[in-house]
Amino acid sequence: MTGSHLRVLVVGGGGREHALAWACASSPLVEEVICAPGNGGTGAVARNFPVKATDARGLVRLAKEERIGLVVLGPDQAIAAGVGDAVVESGIPCFGPSRAAGQLETSKSFAKELLRDLGIPTAPFQVFRDPGLALEHLSSKRGPVVVKADGLALGKGAFVCSGQEEAKAIVRRLMLDRELGEAGQAVLVEELLLGEEVSCFAICDGTRAVMLPPARDYKRALDRDQGENTGGMGGFTPPSGMDPQVLNLRVKEEIVEPVLLEMARRGMPFRGCLYVGCMVQADVISVLEFNARFGDPEAEVLLPTLSDLVPCLWEAARGDLQSPQPTQLESAAVGVVAVREPYPQAVVPGGGIEGVGQAEALGCRVFHMGTRQGEDGLPEVAGGRVLICVATGGDLLGARRQAYSGISLIHFQGMRYRTDIAL
Ligand code: AMP
Ligand code: GLY
Repeated sequence: MTGSHLRVLVVGGGGREHALAWACASSPLVEEVICAPGNGGTGAVARNFPVKATDARGLVRLAKEERIGLVVLGPDQAIAAGVGDAVVESGIPCFGPSRAAGQLETSKSFAKELLRDLGIPTAPFQVFRDPGLALEHLSSKRGPVVVKADGLALGKGAFVCSGQEEAKAIVRRLMLDRELGEAGQAVLVEELLLGEEVSCFAICDGTRAVMLPPARDYKRALDRDQGENTGGMGGFTPPSGMDPQVLNLRVKEEIVEPVLLEMARRGMPFRGCLYVGCMVQADVISVLEFNARFGDPEAEVLLPTLSDLVPCLWEAARGDLQSPQPTQLESAAVGVVAVREPYPQAVVPGGGIEGVGQAEALGCRVFHMGTRQGEDGLPEVAGGRVLICVATGGDLLGARRQAYSGISLIHFQGMRYRTDIAL
């Protein structure tokens, strides 16, 4: 592919999609990027269209009208809604899996059973569709145990419990009270794994993969990993622990390639970004979970460190991945997420955001997560996680200092962030 002819549609409206839209718009191969629905920040690099990320028909119509050559799926909800299938059926290349291949993320039991079949290390587990049986099973458990909702739960479906009483309470909340709706139709009870957690990313074309740098994210709301689970409060690369290149090579050979082979064999080849949530202990890399998309906030942290990603996305979408892995232009990056209180509880939207320009003048990159365009045309707060301030550099310490200098210049009402990202 040569020349700037490619027109790209990025589906979604969070920080990950702002980062993807920015990365695509920066590519010399790309003529224009559009977002559906986008947010208050994506408007600066793309044109926003008010089509929902789950509206498969509406998105196909938009892609046709706008002569789109590549659709990039951001959120898991789009995958679960079959947007990938509809786009591919319409003849447009799609970076993002079919609904069937997306089960790697949308059904934890599907993913865990596949891992078990392939002999890939993962926490020993059992799946329960009957609350009585789950509770009975937990009665025999001593010590910590992990309970998970089987289905999609916006990162809020996994509970590390200190003992059986706590675990039983979670089973009741998930299966009887249906606190997370359909996601709690089945639950998994897992053994607790110890070690260093790290996220790995493979750009996949159905059979082949190239790896992006690994990263770490922070799920808990408060410093020192206290408080509730969230959609992500920040992240950084490179993660501590195993050498990133060794880690990537092993994840590719031990996990990604066998999974791609098996998915293709089952008639559901995986095209898109396979996110491998790993637990590394000593020499063993276990899979905690898969996601069928880029991580959020990992995408915001990683993309600014990489050379043009579009050749890989384009080739992977067409099932013909030839390009090498993108070059890492900066070896370190840190991203700090600013939320509105009382996130992760529901927040009241509205109110402007100040200081983004000043943070950018320092060399930071600010991606919007939960913002929208206000009546005055300026971005305003629209959701709990509002934005992420990212700094890149040659070393983690410098990137960290810059990211925190940047975010300290930003202000909106009720703003809060963790002070220990990448510490
Ligand atoms: P998941 O949604 O499956 O990624 O789980 C969310 C988080 O819960 C992970 O990022 C881990 O921090 C933690 N977690 C999940 N499963 C386990 C496990 N088996 N052992 C230890 N921690 C876990
Ligand atoms: N950062 C975790 C996720 O994207 O699910």
